Amino acid sequence: MSGILKLARQELTSLPPYVPGAYEPGYIRLNANESPWKAPGDPTERGLNIYPPPRPDSITQRLSEQYAVSAKALLVTRGTSEAIDLLIRGFCTAGRDQILICPPTFDMYRLYAGIQGAEVLSVPLLRDRDPDRDFTLDVSRMIANSSERTKLVFICSPNNPTGRAMDPAKLDAICRAVEGRSLVVIDEAYQEFSTTQGFSGLQTRYDHVVLLRTLSKFVSMAGVRCGALIGQPELIEFLGKVLPPYTFPTPSIELVLTALATDSLRISAERTALLRAERARLAKALAASPLVTKVWPSDANFVLVETTDGSRFVEAAHRARILVRVFPTDANLTNCVRITVGQPEHNDRLLQAVSSEGIADGE
Ligand SMILES: Cc1ncc(COP(=O)(O)O)c(C=O)c1O
Repeated sequence: MSGILKLARQELTSLPPYVPGAYEPGYIRLNANESPWKAPGDPTERGLNIYPPPRPDSITQRLSEQYAVSAKALLVTRGTSEAIDLLIRGFCTAGRDQILICPPTFDMYRLYAGIQGAEVLSVPLLRDRDPDRDFTLDVSRMIANSSERTKLVFICSPNNPTGRAMDPAKLDAICRAVEGRSLVVIDEAYQEFSTTQGFSGLQTRYDHVVLLRTLSKFVSMAGVRCGALIGQPELIEFLGKVLPPYTFPTPSIELVLTALATDSLRISAERTALLRAERARLAKALAASPLVTKVWPSDANFVLVETTDGSRFVEAAHRARILVRVFPTDANLTNCVRITVGQPEHNDRLLQAVSSEGIADGE
């Protein structure tokens, strides 16, 4: 067994996979106990009366081209969220193993670890007064505090909710230090909004690096639930045993293929350029607001700001019928607000709402 699979839950590596009934286009299917008729109003080409393919191979193929990896190195999941869950279920034995996270970060790593009964080892991001140097990885503590029990190191880059992409030299140092004892999972849900390179290059140097991508942000398809886990083929094959067959629904497959047609991707790229420009405009205008004390630089489709009074900011936005995100239980993010970059008129409305008149109006 190869190096990375030695880290997996051994009882799963020998689990015989489920063998689905065959599907052959043009053949009558009397092998899967399905209905022989399409339901009235069924808009799909394949037909909802029959099960979707056990794995959405057409999307795997398309996404592997998109991310420039082999199809054997990519597993399609229901959003990145399912990929996080699969990794934790596949690698962490309840009550024994742990994951390492660097808060403040995406909270679902903690949640899925809790559901699996895995411990969460937190090594907070380093703080600095200068927003440009704030919220960086504490590499020496990450290495010193992790152990053989730390099966997965989750690094979010660009990080949610702080917005910044992580330093490549630090990531390289972590990968080198934990090789043979942990997988390094780099969650790149927001990579397309960044002008930094991303971390696919690490996978040419290290077998234990896993990348997570999603169609929820850049391709405007959060509702379809499609993500991708990219790693060594043996890892993909192993996780394919943990992920049951038929999980990816037929309408989602057909909608994703449409979304990944060249025209849609061109539109996504144009919108991303607009979002980046709006992000810069929003950050600049927010920095000038008397309610805002700090704006962190962002490589994502949101901006994190520190305010003089988080509730006041949220209420001002709410009066303008805008929802923004706060982090009431995170001591690192007191009075901080995460604002997703919207369409230009949404951003105008937010800026108007939190300008001093906007707040005075509501008082
Ligand atoms: C960092 C990060 N990873 C993953 C996800 C989940 O994405 P998906 O919609 O692909 O499940 C999110 C969602 O906001 C996120 O912020």
